[in-house]
Amino acid sequence: MILPLNQYHKHKNFSGGSKEYQPLKSFIQKDALLFQDGCIAQTYIVADDNMREDKNKPIDTFPFKILGYITLTCSQVNLKEYDLGDCVRASSYEFLPAVKIARLAVDSNNRTSGIGSMLFEYALLMSLDDIRPMVGCRFLITDAKKSAMEFYSKKGMELLDTEENKSADHPIMFIDLFTLIES
Ligand SMILES: CC(C)(COP(=O)(O)OP(=O)(O)OC[C@H]1O[C@@H](n2cnc3c(N)ncnc32)[C@H](O)[C@@H]1OP(=O)(O)O)[C@@H](O)C(=O)NCCC(=O)NCCS
Repeated sequence: MILPLNQYHKHKNFSGGSKEYQPLKSFIQKDALLFQDGCIAQTYIVADDNMREDKNKPIDTFPFKILGYITLTCSQVNLKEYDLGDCVRASSYEFLPAVKIARLAVDSNNRTSGIGSMLFEYALLMSLDDIRPMVGCRFLITDAKKSAMEFYSKKGMELLDTEENKSADHPIMFIDLFTLIES
């Protein structure tokens, strides 16, 4: 089950795993709600509804453990010479509209069980079906950790093919939402 983050969720229990991922732990524990309240970035969590044994207890205030989370924000991207097809005149803009996966993390005890995929697909469908038709948004992007590039690649994201990007610490990866619209 995916829910918008709220103050009742157990932020403090999230385990990031190795030192490399401590900023992802720190973000969910300290910053995510503040970013949300400040309209900077919205976080969604995966929770297990079996934890709510008494189904009379309201979902909204239940202290769910956070199995994984994704944080989304409005963004823009410079994809250099990217071919926009018939939309040639838009190619003159340096930046194109995008939804950005600002954070994505699964609790270290719950990895490789599909939770990351569930969150990624939630963000992709939201971008494609809800955001894009309402405001115009061509890409879903992320600044990928090197260790997560294969995961994103499996999810259909492409690596921006420039030498500068390929050698960056967090290379830009993207999906062109236009290519996913059913004709
Ligand atoms: C990367 C991450 C979000 C993936 O979530 P997950 O729940 O473990 O992944 P899933 O179970 O949905 O895996 C989907 C597929 O990706 C693969 N995969 C998952 N993590 C991977 C990784 N780090 N490297 C390579 N492949 C990976 C899985 O094996 C699976 O492959 P399959 O479809 O062929 O079976 C999670 O491992 C994580 O939180 N990592 C640490 C933080 C991080 O790197 N976040 C990304 C920030 S840019």
